[in-house]
Amino acid sequence: MAPRNPFRPTFGIVPEVVAGRTGTVAQVSLALDESPGSPYRFTLISGARGSGKTVLLNLLEKEARERGWTPLRITASNAMLDKLTQTDLPKLLSEESPNTHRTQITGGSLAGIGSVTVERTRRYPYQESLHSLLREAVTSLDKRGGGLFLSLDELQSTSPEHLHSLTDAIQDVVRDELPLALTVAGLPFEIAELLDHPGTTFLRRAVPIPLTALPPSEVEQTLRETAQRGNKSFTDAAARTATEATQGYPYLMQLIGSVAWALADKEITPATIDAALPLVIERMGLQVHAPALRGLPEREREYLLHICCT
Ligand SMILES: Nc1ncnc2c1ncn2[C@@H]1O[C@H](COP(=O)(O)OP(=O)(O)OP(=O)(O)O)[C@@H](O)[C@H]1O
Ligand SMILES: [Mg+2]
Repeated sequence: MAPRNPFRPTFGIVPEVVAGRTGTVAQVSLALDESPGSPYRFTLISGARGSGKTVLLNLLEKEARERGWTPLRITASNAMLDKLTQTDLPKLLSEESPNTHRTQITGGSLAGIGSVTVERTRRYPYQESLHSLLREAVTSLDKRGGGLFLSLDELQSTSPEHLHSLTDAIQDVVRDELPLALTVAGLPFEIAELLDHPGTTFLRRAVPIPLTALPPSEVEQTLRETAQRGNKSFTDAAARTATEATQGYPYLMQLIGSVAWALADKEITPATIDAALPLVIERMGLQVHAPALRGLPEREREYLLHICCT
């Protein structure tokens, strides 16, 4: 069977070979083994579209799982608190302790032959809050030496009010030195805007992890290793040209690699890269630039066109 293209020019999927990120993963991993006061339990990943935020979240979740922690991904939206309270946390709790049920014996009688009537409704019904469920979940995980590793992607898709409610509940649990970690990812400008709101002080104290360009040596090594996984190889000159063209941008690395791999026979040469680049530019426009510009007002788009093309 012919080998599959080993590059992944798509979003949110961990690539075959990961470039860099080992330092961040090691820091977060260490923090989970340290005490609750460790700064890397709360991190704020920021970067442009395609800079590798979701991939990094996936790597951190995997690491947390390996350390006995339970990862829980929150998809940022204005419905995220309801989903947490009504679905995610109750599900986690029922998986943690399947035999416990919260219904109480609120009445009974030992009349006659001594039978007890079990009433399965609460006398004073109450609704579980995010605070109480979160605390219960973390306490339960703590008992078996684990913890809860929350991750929140696409931070910009939630409102400051929802974010405030979430961090308020988190803070409440952390105050009691319970094992809870949070890593948040989003676009830099939108994150900066959100953090300007008064209710987000807690997140402002999280360790910032800006995803800047990957160093050329790591890009080159990743391109070469990934191509090898698909039984093809870069010549030295092609590896250098491709590395330069990526500008350290992860999505572009996958895209250039993918197109070059598909065009090449066995060996990826400078001619392959020359043939690949126009296709790559077109795909970048389609998948990254066009979606980013879609929300811009006409006048801002004209302004951008003016500064880029005159
Ligand atoms: N460290 C890395 N090494 C190699 N490739 C990577 C790395 N990080 C991300 N990629 C690749 O880059 C692309 C984009 O990654 P990802 O989806 O994580 O970006 P993102 O920052 O979450 O983008 P968005 O803001 O659109 O959600 C994917 O093709 C992924 O495989
Ligand atoms: Mg993403």
